[in-house]
Amino acid sequence: MAQIINGKEVSASVKAAVAAETAQLREEKGLKVGLAVVIVGDNPASRVYVNNKKKACEEVGFQSFEYALDENTTEEQLRDLVDVLNRDSRVNGILVQLPLPKHINETAIINAISPEKDVDAFHPSNVGKIMIGEYSFLPCTPAGVMELIASTGVEIAGKSCVVIGRSNIVGKPMAMLLLHKSGTVTICHSKTQNLKEICLGADILVAAVGKPNFVTGDMVKEGAVVLDVGINRLENGKLCGDVEFESAEKKASYITPVPGGVGPMTISMLMKNTLTAAKQQAGLI
Ligand code: GUN
Repeated sequence: MAQIINGKEVSASVKAAVAAETAQLREEKGLKVGLAVVIVGDNPASRVYVNNKKKACEEVGFQSFEYALDENTTEEQLRDLVDVLNRDSRVNGILVQLPLPKHINETAIINAISPEKDVDAFHPSNVGKIMIGEYSFLPCTPAGVMELIASTGVEIAGKSCVVIGRSNIVGKPMAMLLLHKSGTVTICHSKTQNLKEICLGADILVAAVGKPNFVTGDMVKEGAVVLDVGINRLENGKLCGDVEFESAEKKASYITPVPGGVGPMTISMLMKNTLTAAKQQAGLI
């Protein structure tokens, strides 16, 4: 039986450290930290994420500024708002919740966010920095996974690390972070042949496919560390990950649950980035 990695606990300790530093900045330098969160339309999942982000801001002592825009907002209107936020000194970080409505070009919006305030680390300039390993903004979800791996004490260097999924938000930066820690990294995706065999070779297996119960126990190596990035809602309303927990748990040494695994980490990493942005903008680092 695997040990369950408690994402809520690890996330709480990251947030506690951010809260302590935020309080110190306010007391010693009179500096406030602010995050702007922009949501367009009424995607229910996005609404939940945005509410959780606002709640986390309160917990760590940030100001949060929410902009809830109508589904019919034009790309130009959204760009105008991003421009205003880029210039607003109360705003240290800007988060535009994805996905955006189909008529808005996501890339154009991401590119419009000032790289200094891009706390998601989605802007090409920040993505490039992650690629070369000289970054100050962590890609939130992959960085959260790295914290969870660190919490197990399992060494990454030299290990076979398999990432299933090649998205810009998770799969690609995840592979980079594992590589920076000297993992031997394989990225699998929908066209991968022999997926099961490749997964069976993984000491560290990260599932970020977006398909419920995609990774089954027969794909997991005995003793592997399994990180499940998926958050899928089943027809019965229940949440489930990309990993079939019951069967995978029998093989893994450590495994993340859904919910309560990777999810809470993404938000605490966002808080960490926002604090970093505030310190950079104040010339403290
Ligand atoms: N949608 C799903 N995940 C994310 C994320 O990490 N950041 C933003 N902005 N949107 C998302």
